[in-house]
Amino acid sequence: MDIVEQHRGRQYGLHQQYVNPAFVKMLKTIGFDKNYVRGEGCYLWDPQGNKYLDLLTGWGVFMLGRNHPKIRAALHELLDAASPNLVRMDCSILSGLVAESLVSHMPPGLSRVFFTNSGTESVETAIKFARCNTGREKIVYTEHAFHGLTTGSLAINGADFFRQRFGALLPGTSAVPFNNLAALEQALVKKDVAAFILEPIQGKTCEVVQDGYLAEAQRLCRQAGTLLVIDEVQSGMGRTGKWFCFQHWPEVEPDIVCVAKGLSGGFVPVGAVVTRPSIMDSVFNSMERCVVHSNTFGQNDMAMAAALATLQVIEEDKLVENAAALGAYVISRLTDIGRQCPFVTEVRGKGLMFGIDFARPAGSLKLKLAWDALHKLNFGVFGQMIILPLLNDHKILTQVAGYHTEVIKFLPPIIATREDMDWFLKAMEAVLADTQRIPGTAWNTVMGMAKNAVRA
Ligand SMILES: Cc1ncc(COP(=O)(O)O)c(C=O)c1O
Repeated sequence: MDIVEQHRGRQYGLHQQYVNPAFVKMLKTIGFDKNYVRGEGCYLWDPQGNKYLDLLTGWGVFMLGRNHPKIRAALHELLDAASPNLVRMDCSILSGLVAESLVSHMPPGLSRVFFTNSGTESVETAIKFARCNTGREKIVYTEHAFHGLTTGSLAINGADFFRQRFGALLPGTSAVPFNNLAALEQALVKKDVAAFILEPIQGKTCEVVQDGYLAEAQRLCRQAGTLLVIDEVQSGMGRTGKWFCFQHWPEVEPDIVCVAKGLSGGFVPVGAVVTRPSIMDSVFNSMERCVVHSNTFGQNDMAMAAALATLQVIEEDKLVENAAALGAYVISRLTDIGRQCPFVTEVRGKGLMFGIDFARPAGSLKLKLAWDALHKLNFGVFGQMIILPLLNDHKILTQVAGYHTEVIKFLPPIIATREDMDWFLKAMEAVLADTQRIPGTAWNTVMGMAKNAVRA
């Protein structure tokens, strides 16, 4: 685009002045201001022509890589078709087709779709549907959960950090520890909870639900008249090696499933809530109430064309199968590599959603002292020792999974190849080896950063 070429290089200044100076400062401090000029498939390019492997994928939206040719073609075709977009007092064929396709990948009872424009809107919708359907107000969620940052979703966020200073939120929410059935049973005992919501793999910790957990949680929910809501915003659309992560446990049939991110093909914001007809009908229970929950941009043709093409590509190119096979390979190899590094406590995840967890090492006194010194200055900065060399030395883009955690999460596109994962594994081997060199460049860099942060 001409306008982009004319102003190339001004983005940090513009954002500093007009958008979010704190974000610009953060990027510059850690050297992530790379001024990317091109994105295609699993890769990004900077102005010097360096090619980067993107394992952050725009926080999970570029599941099919950037600028996928088939989705691009579908969008071009739509733009040329002068479609009767967003008539509102009519039904669109495209959204009907997306709904039909989404439902075909769900358990039989889940056959109605409400379209949204983001992950958090899907979660807000699930909260409203559950409250309306059950006539109850309470929502139970899990510690360390992340369901988005609008005020309803924020009220079920498992980290104080995100909630602080935003005042009172939705009442009647409470957290239970992840993977703890006894706590869940206790939370539901009064039979006054509308919904239990959880991510089958937590985005902020990469913790996976234990085998048997979801089925038992479902039984407890049914017994208490509570709806089971599974948030698949990040883990859905094939990422974990099944269309939706809960399908790793075939006996699980949630009442509501939240979808977004990957459904967009990375092009146009889109989300969806898939649920049972009885739940949908209890909300839209008369002609008068037929748009009692709605949104202006939902079902827009651009989003629907992108979603439909995305669903087709995932099916035709067998990308769910690719995520399963490649994920098994990379998690197993990363686990082996992690065993060589005393700071690594666990490699966990499923398919192409996996993470590596770091903690104070058990053995070497030298490593323990270094860990303690760093954590005394700044908790959470250890992860920079992994992500900075990954970017600068190995040209791999990643991010720490959450604030105040020591987990690095990887979300490769599900079109990635064995070659891409070998690039990543070789880099991890080198980066993890460097964490054990004291003194060394990696430690000097993060200690410097931690000291600067204290001074600031
Ligand atoms: C599991 C989960 N739910 C909801 C959201 C919120 O999605 P959005 O940022 O599109 O509002 C996210 C975002 O990361 C997520 O990971």
